Formats: sequence, C-alpha cells, structure tokens
Amino acid sequence: MTEGRFITLEGGEGTGKSTLLAALRGKLEAAGYSVVVTREPGGTELAETIRNLVLHPPEGQVWSSMAVALLMNAARTDHLEKMIRPAITAGTWVLCDRFADSTRVYQSVQKGVSVEVLKMLERSVLGDTRPDLTLVLDAPVELAASRRAERGGQVDAFEMRDQAFHEAVRQAFLDVAKDEPSRCAVLDASRTAEDVATQAWKAIESRLFVEKQGAPS
Ligand SMILES: Nc1ncnc2c1ncn2[C@@H]1O[C@H](COP(=O)(O)OP(=O)(O)OP(=O)(O)O)[C@@H](O)[C@H]1O
Ligand SMILES: [Mg+2]
Repeated sequence: MTEGRFITLEGGEGTGKSTLLAALRGKLEAAGYSVVVTREPGGTELAETIRNLVLHPPEGQVWSSMAVALLMNAARTDHLEKMIRPAITAGTWVLCDRFADSTRVYQSVQKGVSVEVLKMLERSVLGDTRPDLTLVLDAPVELAASRRAERGGQVDAFEMRDQAFHEAVRQAFLDVAKDEPSRCAVLDASRTAEDVATQAWKAIESRLFVEKQGAPS
C-alpha cells in the first residue's frame, strides 16, 4: 500500500491555518485521497488534556518556556504514536494544524529555550516522522490581529501577548522556512482565502504529487 503524506500548517494566530486546512481537506478528498485533519497541541485524548493545561493554566499561573516545550513534546509523542504514524502507514494524508515548528518558534522567542535544545527534543520525538511539506502562512501582524478580533471567541494565553511578541513569532516562522526550504513553503496569507488555498495547492502539486507519486488521475 502507498504511504500517506504528512502536511503541517504553521504561522501566527489568525493567519488562516484552520481556514486553509478545511479547504485543503476538500481538495484532497475530491482528488480521491483519504484525509485526516488533526491539530497540535492535541489530536489524541491525552494530548488534548495537555493542550488544555498549557493554553488555559490555573488562574494567575504561568508556565515557563521550558515547561511548555516539554509538555508540547509529551503531547506530540502521544499524537505521533497513536494517530499520525498509523494514519500515514494506512495510506492516509495527515493534515496537521500546527506541529513541531510552533514549539520551535513559540518556546524560543523572547529569551525562551534555545533553538538547539528545541531541535534536539524535536529529533528525539519525531524520529523519521518529519512533515513531507510544511505550509508557513505569513501575514502582517496587524492583519492577523484584525482577523482574530473579527472572529471573536475565547482568547488563550498565547493570543494575549503584545505586538512585539507577534512580530517575533512571524520572523521566527520565516527563519524556520529559510532554515529548511526543501520542507517549507511560505504562503502569502494576506491574500483572500481562495488565493491562499491556490498557493497551497500549487506547493502540494509541485512538491508532493510531482516528486513523490505523480499527479492524481
Ligand atoms: N485569507 C483570508 N482572508 C480573510 N479572512 C480570512 C482568511 N483566512 C482566514 N480568515 C478569517 O480570519 C479568521 C482567522 O482565521 P483562522 O481561524 O483560520 O486562523 P488560524 O491561523 O487558524 O488562527 P489560530 O492560530 O488562532 O487558530 C477567521 O475568522 C477566518 O474566517
Ligand atoms: Mg486555528
């Protein structure tokens, strides 16, 4: 059986990851692929429990960057073992809303954990299960903030940070893409949702269909 593919979506809050994920699921299913959509932190029962602990700590309590890095990696191990690897082996395409790059970015910015330490944890936890393609959604922080404001809903511990934090996050995601250009494609997320989906589809076609298994029939 042909193995599935592993695609991750990364970028700051409100750049449009979840919106793009839904569009890509539709396009891939229409092309005849079996698709599963998942997210990080989360994706399994234990990992979702950790997600809640990290994003909504008890009133007045703050996790250190190192603590969050370890919790994220604990959640990721469970997610990989129970969900992501079995799906890929079964021939399913896994679309994941945030993955290891988010840990590399959020836990390193503004004097967090060193990128070297985060990469070491990442290597141990991921092993050979690295994304085949990572779509990095890039947009000005003001635009992402206004989209978040329009969307409304519950605000979590990461979203409450200031503009300098969001600028640092944006730059750190671009640094990840620069560091690993063969895995990452940067998308201009300031365009319409339809245009962003087209950009993503082009990256999938050129990097996954052509190079790895030929175009879908
Ligand atoms: N390309 C786009 N143009 C305009 N609005 C968009 C676009 N993409 C998403 N939106 C809208 O912006 C808001 C944020 O999008 P979305 O929830 O997909 O972002 P996200 O990256 O998943 O955010 P988070 O990191 O907070 O989960 C939503 O209200 C969504 O409908
Ligand atoms: Mg989202």
